[in-house]
Amino acid sequence: MTRCHFLRLKTLNLRPQIGNMENLIPDLDVLDAAGVEQCEVKVSPDVNSGQSRKLYIESYGCQMNFSDSEIVASILAKEGYDTTSEAEQADLIFLNTCSIREKAEQTVRHRLKHINGFKKRKPGLLVGVLGCMAERLKTNLLEEEKIVDLVAGPDAYRDLPKLINQVDDGQKAVNTFLSREETYADISPVRLNSNGVTAFVSIMRGCDNMCSFCVVPFTRGRERSRDPHSIVAEAKALFEQGFREVTLLGQNVDSYKWSEVENNKARIEKLGVEKIINFANLLEMVAHVSPDLRIRFSTSHPKDITDEVLHTMAKYENICKYIHLPVQSGNSRVLELMNRGYTREWYLERVNRIKEILGDECGISSDMITGFCSETEEEHQDTLTLMDKVQYDFAYMFYYSERPGTLAAKKLKDDISLDVKKRRLQEIIDKQRILSHNRNKLDVGKVFKVLIEGPSKKSDHYLQGRTSTNKVAVFEALGKNKGEYVNVLITECTGGTLLGKIVA
Ligand code: SAH
Ligand code: SF4
Ligand code: F3S
Repeated sequence: MTRCHFLRLKTLNLRPQIGNMENLIPDLDVLDAAGVEQCEVKVSPDVNSGQSRKLYIESYGCQMNFSDSEIVASILAKEGYDTTSEAEQADLIFLNTCSIREKAEQTVRHRLKHINGFKKRKPGLLVGVLGCMAERLKTNLLEEEKIVDLVAGPDAYRDLPKLINQVDDGQKAVNTFLSREETYADISPVRLNSNGVTAFVSIMRGCDNMCSFCVVPFTRGRERSRDPHSIVAEAKALFEQGFREVTLLGQNVDSYKWSEVENNKARIEKLGVEKIINFANLLEMVAHVSPDLRIRFSTSHPKDITDEVLHTMAKYENICKYIHLPVQSGNSRVLELMNRGYTREWYLERVNRIKEILGDECGISSDMITGFCSETEEEHQDTLTLMDKVQYDFAYMFYYSERPGTLAAKKLKDDISLDVKKRRLQEIIDKQRILSHNRNKLDVGKVFKVLIEGPSKKSDHYLQGRTSTNKVAVFEALGKNKGEYVNVLITECTGGTLLGKIVA
């Protein structure tokens, strides 16, 4: 492939969620229903445009990290690098890392040991660690992992050419400076992991929320919003290239705020509302790109999602009726310890508003953590009863992993045993499996507009795509192709998939 940047998705194991979505959720270190550790990693594709050097990037963690790898590939393409999917072929190996749970970091450390073998055979090989683990550990990484030549945090990617030169000159190179402004707005990402139909567009960076369990504010820095005009321009360009769906990405999209004069949130709040573009305004701007371009977004925060956003979703058919609204826990005391900024009652009220404004069919999914500091059995039961009340379509579920430097690590005791954490996790996984299946059963007999994403995993005679509510539907191809919209009558379902046939 010369021009094409399709990613070879190397799935080391099955995806770890009950459901089927792709968003900001980390792919590492969760348990599937059988209690087996899962891990997914994305590997750069083979691109032979005749450039002299080869870059291999392996990306871990959330969609934001995968998107950042596309920015890195774009910056390095200008420096004479083609990507490769074979680490052994590379002159430069980057691991774009995740710190969200301990296991995520352990995976990277094991990988570095493996890469050490290549370096012994090819002494000129340059090894860099990017992303959240680079930001968290900074120069310590160079001391702890002798094989690493270069460490670059998420806001330092423009500096990579300079850092690479520094290593070529025989020094180690580090840049973990976190910016208040950097959004890479002007960098057009090389679409590494694309099916040619759906793409991710980063609309903001960082997070100001300080949930007590979470390392992201430390690894990604302060929240900042990207210029909406550059977002709309990127969406338009994608549409013109044949893409039919964009997912707007941010850690907390509901707090998107931008003004012509300032993109710093704190200063914007002082400027007065009329000059500000908020998330509902941005959604509307992107919805106008074309009625044939679908819009999704992730992640919504229960404390910030507004009725204005819900009404904007209702107004535009092309804004997908699906909200990822992580609850984390169903108990108000635990939510307070987590510093989430809402209670169980507030969350359930938001869910009721979603159902009132968008109807019961609107897809809702969640993230949940079991065994957070001091969580009792009764409080764990509150998570299970909340799941019943909401009737989630999907959920990503984790047991709590203490992260150094977070508020919880400093102030709370990680006092729930691993066995109990895992048992509670299994209970919510079992519950979600039933809920997902029940929600899918409600779709049988109905017709949905589906955007075709490509052949189904099992057979080329079948295609798969998603409904507006983010369910995967599989149906016989009947001469249709990816990128087209079709109406599909759902005839059967499993817990994760709808099966149906194309109707007029
Ligand atoms: N910004 C998103 C989540 C980003 S991290 C939000 O606010 O919802 C993705 C998920 O990882 C979180 O929702 C949480 O469920 C999980 N997570 C984060 N830190 C964790 C930790 N220390 N242990 C276990 N799970 C964690
Ligand atoms: Fe982490 Fe909370 Fe920010 Fe999500 S909103 S990234 S959980 S601090
Ligand atoms: Fe994403 Fe992991 Fe960083 S979840 S933001 S890559 S810590």
